[in-house]
Amino acid sequence: MNRIIITLDGPAGAGKSTVAKQLAKLLNISYLDTGAMYRALTLKALRLEINMEDEDALKSVALKTKIEFVDDGQGGLRITLDGEDVSEAIRSLDVTNNTFYTARAGKVREILVEWQKAFGRARSLVGEGRDLGTVVFPEATYKFYLDADVEERCQRRIRELRAQGKVFDEEALKKDLRERDQKDLSRAVGPLKKTTDMIVIDSTGLSVEQTAYKILEHIN
Ligand code: C5P
Repeated sequence: MNRIIITLDGPAGAGKSTVAKQLAKLLNISYLDTGAMYRALTLKALRLEINMEDEDALKSVALKTKIEFVDDGQGGLRITLDGEDVSEAIRSLDVTNNTFYTARAGKVREILVEWQKAFGRARSLVGEGRDLGTVVFPEATYKFYLDADVEERCQRRIRELRAQGKVFDEEALKKDLRERDQKDLSRAVGPLKKTTDMIVIDSTGLSVEQTAYKILEHIN
C-alpha cells in the first residue's frame, strides 16, 4: 500500500481527536495528536517555571525534551514526556490555558513540526492539529477542516469534563474556548487556516460515527 497521510485541522472541540482516532483504527494506520505535543512541552516549561514569554528559553527546553507516543496495548496511545506518562496531566486547565505560549513561538514550532514530519516520513497516518494541512503535511493525500458551531463545541467540552468528574465554571470555560480560537486563528506562525484544498466537514449535530463516516465517504 502507498503511504497515505490524512490531516484534520480545526478549532478546539470540533471533535478532531475522537474522529481521528476512530479513522486511524478503521484504516489501520497511525494516529498523530500534535496538540498533545504542544501541551506536553507547555507542561514541562510550567514545571520548570520558565518565563513563558521568552521564546529562546522555550526553544532550549524543547531541544532537551523527548516526547513519545506509546501503545497502551488496548488500542490506545499514551504520551510520555522524558519517559513519564503525562497523558492526563497535559489535559489540565492550567496546561490548556498556557499552551498558546509554546504554540505562538516560531522557534518552538520549527522543532515540533520537524518531529511531526519525521513521524510521517515512515508511515501512513491520520494527524490532527491546527497547521497539519498547511505546514506539517502540505502534500497530504486528504486534507480535512473539521468545524462545528461554537456553542456546540463548548457543550461537548462541558460534557467531557463532567464525565471526568471535574469541577469547573461553565462561563469561564466558554470564554477560554473562544479566546483559544482567537489565538489559534491570529498567531503569526502556524495559525489555524481553512484553505481551498481542504474538505470542510461541519460536525454540528453529528455523532462521532456520523462525522467519521462523512470523512470516509471522501476517502473511498
Ligand atoms: O488540539 P488541542 O486542543 O489539544 O491543542 C492544544 C493547543 O495546541 C491548541 O489550542 C493550539 O494552540 C496548539 N496547537 C498548535 N498546533 C497544532 C496543534 C495544537 O498550535 N498543530
